[in-house]
Amino acid sequence: MSQTVYLNGEFMPLTEARVPVLDRGFIFGDGVYEVIPVYARVPLRLAEHLARMQNSLNAIHLRNPLAAEEWTRIVGQIIERNAWDDQAVYVQVTRGVAPRDQAFPADATPTVFVMANPMSKPSAEQRERGVGVITAEDFRWQRCDIKSVSLLANCLLRQLAAEAGCVEAILLRDGHVTEASTSNVFLVKNGVIVSPPKDRRILPGITLDLVLDLARNAKLPIEIRPVPEHELREADEIWVSSSTKEVLPVTTLDGKPVGNGKPGPMYARMYGLYQDHKAQIARAGAAHA
Ligand code: PDD
Repeated sequence: MSQTVYLNGEFMPLTEARVPVLDRGFIFGDGVYEVIPVYARVPLRLAEHLARMQNSLNAIHLRNPLAAEEWTRIVGQIIERNAWDDQAVYVQVTRGVAPRDQAFPADATPTVFVMANPMSKPSAEQRERGVGVITAEDFRWQRCDIKSVSLLANCLLRQLAAEAGCVEAILLRDGHVTEASTSNVFLVKNGVIVSPPKDRRILPGITLDLVLDLARNAKLPIEIRPVPEHELREADEIWVSSSTKEVLPVTTLDGKPVGNGKPGPMYARMYGLYQDHKAQIARAGAAHA
């Protein structure tokens, strides 16, 4: 089966999807996106992803071209029309096609694009041995809470990590941890899970919230507060989270071991809670199908 995507009201093979070069997404990176994980054909926290997209659209003063029910229907159809049980659904809205001018066009129609890809979860080896990360200066803009398609800084930072043979770059701004180039960051010290506050310097991760909800339900201690660089370097455990990484243990930071250099006991606990939650959602979805 070829990959089916949705573009501006129509389903079509990926290879046939075309956007005009004057689309402001292409010219200016003027648009927002979401990546929604799907397990056993059930989207995880879809309402939360749609709410975050609405916040991103509000922040860039772009009206949402579709109602939440329409988004839900299209995402459901994309899941159904593609071959994989576990998918990452990508949703993008741009300000549409208009003559090149930085000021907003008066009457452009937003471009809506939805595609599914097979979910590429971290490998068993990455989970069991942990992954390497580097640190880097967070030189992005001041509105990292907007899930903008303008990802040049994130691309440059993720590439730095790739060139160092690492999966992520953990970012530092004014001596504090913000997030990573494509994920949020947690550390564990003396049994307490610590994560930076959700402000304009980070993307409010849906997986971040899920991890915190799971931790709260399991009565694991949490501190949401600014994280100075030295705490990162002295952490017992470091985790990164995203819709595609789930929650992943970091075992080397700038080439040095984190804690004892192995994924820690709190990670093992959180990974278990996360997998149980996924299984529960998939069972609930199957019961509704
Ligand atoms: N990235 N921070 C950044 C900068 C991100 O790009 C992402 C996700 C996250 C985690 O957010 P969530 O838990 O909602 O996926 C944090 C997606 C997966 C991407 O760009 O592919």
